[in-house]
Amino acid sequence: MSRIVFVDGAFVPEEEAMVSVFDRGFLFADAVYEVTSVLEGRFLDFDGHMARLKRSLGELGMEEPMSRDALFEIHRELIDRNGIREGCVYLQVTRGVADRDFLFPEGVAQTVVMFTQAKNFMGEKKGIRVVSSPDIRWKRRDVKTVQLLAASMAKTAAKKLGKDDAWLVEDGFVTEGTSSNTYIVTRKGRIVTRNLTNAILPGITRASVLKLAAEHKLEIEERPFTIAEAQEAAEAFVTSATSFVCPVVEIDGTELSGGAPGPIAMRLNQIYIEEGKKAGI
Ligand code: PDD
Repeated sequence: MSRIVFVDGAFVPEEEAMVSVFDRGFLFADAVYEVTSVLEGRFLDFDGHMARLKRSLGELGMEEPMSRDALFEIHRELIDRNGIREGCVYLQVTRGVADRDFLFPEGVAQTVVMFTQAKNFMGEKKGIRVVSSPDIRWKRRDVKTVQLLAASMAKTAAKKLGKDDAWLVEDGFVTEGTSSNTYIVTRKGRIVTRNLTNAILPGITRASVLKLAAEHKLEIEERPFTIAEAQEAAEAFVTSATSFVCPVVEIDGTELSGGAPGPIAMRLNQIYIEEGKKAGI
């Protein structure tokens, strides 16, 4: 079945959806995006994702394409039209179409694209195996742009090694996963995750999970950590809109939590899902 996607104000079958070859998203990665998950037909952390979208646009000197309510209506219509109860909606806003020039064009209409992806969030979580990889991305990782080549290269290299993903490392410390925020749980049960700076994306799932962890009296330390510290940890996990809380069971060949998903990661995933079912819109 072909999906119905949203492009520049219209809902169209994916085969008919068109974006110009002169679109700056295509030529310069001059675009930002968001991925919002859907569980039981409701959006998780929708307002967090829209707030980050607004910030990303602002950092690049771009306008908001439409109101939060208008964006919400399109998100909802897309999942309804595509029969999505569990999955996600991808939203991209580009600076628009202009003749190729490094200078930002003035007064051009933005391109807005949205589409759905079906997913199964409730299946068994076996945990992922990761390898470290140098973080060769640009220095404004706090802005959610579509420049994802370095992350894509690192994930592909990890897969070639028979692993699931890469953890990116800069100046000796883990920044994040290729498309997730990273955490370890110390042997004293403290959750450690990198503090927010321009080195990492301020994950929306991260914000929710840290809030829920604090409500459940788990101790949190926001600071950088090394691969060596992670290998010594009781457990490790990642968060993202597409994986929720996902346990990490191996880092650079060292098994964690006996090679099985750790209890704190599994518990936080359950808590996040329960809260999502209640608070989703
Ligand atoms: N990526 N860090 C990076 C580099 C990411 O690409 C993502 C998400 C995250 C987690 O952010 P959030 O919790 O808001 O999803 C952290 C999305 C899921 C993607 O590119 O598909």
